[in-house]
Amino acid sequence: MKLPRIDIAGLIAAMTLREKIGQLTMVTGEWAVTGPKTMPVSMDAIRAGDAGSILNLWSPQALREVQAAALESRLRIPLFAGYDVVHGHRTIFPIPLGEAASFDCDLWRRTAAAAADEAAEDGISLTFAPMLDVARDLRWGRILEGAGEDPFVASEVGRAKTVGYQGERLDDPRHVAACAKHIGAYGAVLAGRDYATADVSPRELEEVHLPAFEAAVAAGVAAVMPSFNDIAGIPSHANRQLLDGYLRRRFGFDGVVISDYNGIAELVVHGAAADLAEAAALALRAGVDIDMMGGAYRDGLEEALRRGLISEAEIDTAVRRVLTLKERLGLFANPLRGLIGDKPAPVRHRALSREAARKSVVLLKNAQAVLPLAGQGGPIAVIGPLADSGSDMLGAWAGAGRGEECVTFVTGLRAAFPSRAVAQARGCEILSGSADDQALALTAARQAEVVVLCLGEERGMSGEASCRAEPDLPEVQIGLARAVLALGKPVVLVISSGRPIILPKDIVEGVSAILATWFLGSEAGNALGDILSGSAAPGGRLPVSWPYSAGQAPIYYARRRSGRPADTNQHYTSKYLDVPVEPLYPFGHGLSYTTFRIENLRLSASEMTASDGVDVAVDVVNTGGRAGDTTVFMFIQDPVASVTRPVLAAKGFAKVSLAAGERRALRFRLTGADLRFPGIDMQPRIENGRIDVLAGERAVESELLRASLTVTGGVSSMQT
Ligand code: BGC
Repeated sequence: MKLPRIDIAGLIAAMTLREKIGQLTMVTGEWAVTGPKTMPVSMDAIRAGDAGSILNLWSPQALREVQAAALESRLRIPLFAGYDVVHGHRTIFPIPLGEAASFDCDLWRRTAAAAADEAAEDGISLTFAPMLDVARDLRWGRILEGAGEDPFVASEVGRAKTVGYQGERLDDPRHVAACAKHIGAYGAVLAGRDYATADVSPRELEEVHLPAFEAAVAAGVAAVMPSFNDIAGIPSHANRQLLDGYLRRRFGFDGVVISDYNGIAELVVHGAAADLAEAAALALRAGVDIDMMGGAYRDGLEEALRRGLISEAEIDTAVRRVLTLKERLGLFANPLRGLIGDKPAPVRHRALSREAARKSVVLLKNAQAVLPLAGQGGPIAVIGPLADSGSDMLGAWAGAGRGEECVTFVTGLRAAFPSRAVAQARGCEILSGSADDQALALTAARQAEVVVLCLGEERGMSGEASCRAEPDLPEVQIGLARAVLALGKPVVLVISSGRPIILPKDIVEGVSAILATWFLGSEAGNALGDILSGSAAPGGRLPVSWPYSAGQAPIYYARRRSGRPADTNQHYTSKYLDVPVEPLYPFGHGLSYTTFRIENLRLSASEMTASDGVDVAVDVVNTGGRAGDTTVFMFIQDPVASVTRPVLAAKGFAKVSLAAGERRALRFRLTGADLRFPGIDMQPRIENGRIDVLAGERAVESELLRASLTVTGGVSSMQT
């Protein structure tokens, strides 16, 4: 359907300054509170044209009401409604860090499309997602919202999610606009403390933190949100080089920049602006179009104009972008967009949620193949504060999900093991406990043949402003685990958490199996049942290194080598006295119920020029007795360069399902673009010489297959 074009220039010409500022102002409906202050809106203000968009409000009835008020404004400009539909709307999918573990681009796309479908039906037209912040510090609570530690993986997520949310056309009422967030370097906040400074180098910014945003822009993302932090003293909401230089000019972004919650007014608190007028001017000039919940544009833009800090033409540019987004969303033609009925969207995507949850579980350990559990046998005791908690399964961004609609672990296990007795006991709370509760749990454990111990964080212990200096398994749960282990039964540890959490050595060694389940969403229990019963094989792989100690953070596989690489036999090397340098479980780690062999790494040529590429292939063989999935990564290593390169850098991954004994070839393509990096002068370059291509299941150099090729047609590493 071709929509009639709106005369945006004519509309802007007809607008008063107040109406223009209204279009740049986002207010809240307050159904959810996602920031420190509120700026609730009255219907009168909407009728007066003082709000151009609204957040934290959904449902047909509510959205019909506010849209009707907007259409009563003098120029009848519809509102758009934004909401954090981050990992589901009514149907909740695994948290993004968990879903990243599936390494399944098509799944990433499908869950975003399903979330968009439900959100659109509830009147939402833009989601504040995907979150693309590369995070390498488990202390940071928001590590759960992104794809983990790797820029290549984050870029793939950025692409898949953008396409999933937005569909083919923004005016498709079953889809919503996506807003990639939070540019830039938010995942690198100092000491893992939310909102703190991120003093990253331009090189790290370009190589680690920005590629996923570039990928989302290339996929057509409609909006981008700056981060709360400053980068080396420049708060992102005032960072012209970031929002204009990189985002608009270099990446070609032509959409809307939406501030984070109160992010413009906070420029005053940062110490970057003296008052709201200066804050508003800095943000507008940097390229922030919409002020979410700050009131800085509402209360500061007019004054900024009076002081000559900005021009009305700059305001018009932002207004034009906002109106263009509304036009692209089809709101002028169809202000109610996806609203098809009067009832809130139902939980419609349970099967997909179960699939996603199943694929997100990472089997970290499985000693003596204790898993899968047999269908017949003695009682199973499901113990722990997370054994029967629906609300925790929702994870941090629950959308419009409801805890009582999540299948808990014990419910799922009862369904998966109809022929076995399944007993349940909490044992303790998340952070506290009593002797009586523990005694009850131990009684259940004593009578059981196997214990499924469900420990970890509650959903509020990770997420925004939920950082932990000591991201350990809480003390009381450690006590419970030790008491259960002392009974000598096989224990399957099921961890729920928004991050890798630090596990005591005796527990890691004492339990028979460990599963990282993150927060799995609406179908958590059924997915766990599928895996523990063996009706599905675990296929998740860690998208983030799982450390021994929080003191190892930031920790990631793609580090630089150093002049004194770690060597436990040499004192003067880059290591710790008390913990290993390597993580407990590396990036890519994850077991299956079968085993795989990766062999026969081959390149289509032993030379490539900077402008072409090579085909890379490996064979994967399922060497075990059952069907299963694995993920193979292709890494590169550049042994000599003008700027030292990471020891490994992922440039591809592929997931494959194989029957027992089956063999399949997996193919990758390595191009010149994969070899490009910013030189000493920060100009992009490709250098001649040897490049090693490595392939395998985990980011452990010694385990990977390796082949070398020679690059020509680039520049010499000595030519700087
Ligand atoms: C968060 C954003 C979110 C916004 C709106 C902020 O506090 O940083 O990620 O989109 O609130 O809820």
